[in-house]
Amino acid sequence: MSWVKVAPAADVAEGHAAAYEVAGRPLAICHSADGYYAIDDICTHDGGPLDQGRLDGNRIECPRHGAKFDIVSGKALTLPAVRPVRAYPTRVENGAIEVEIS
Ligand code: FES
Repeated sequence: MSWVKVAPAADVAEGHAAAYEVAGRPLAICHSADGYYAIDDICTHDGGPLDQGRLDGNRIECPRHGAKFDIVSGKALTLPAVRPVRAYPTRVENGAIEVEIS
């Protein structure tokens, strides 16, 4: 496992998410009042781009059919998604967002 630098922390404003490819994986980097979190950017219902969803606290809503996911755990909170997205350890080091990829 190793930490991969993703972007300057200032590039993802609080209350927003952004798409990045990290080690070949599409990730949604989410910035809530609690900090930065990284989840797979592919909704487990039908592949919707979660980074384009609305972030409300630590929940993000898929823009396609409205499933909500917990950005901390990746857990699917509402239908139509039932399977979690993968969540990755995330930190800020020297002003940069880093994600731990195994
Ligand atoms: S693709 Fe995300 S809820 Fe359907």
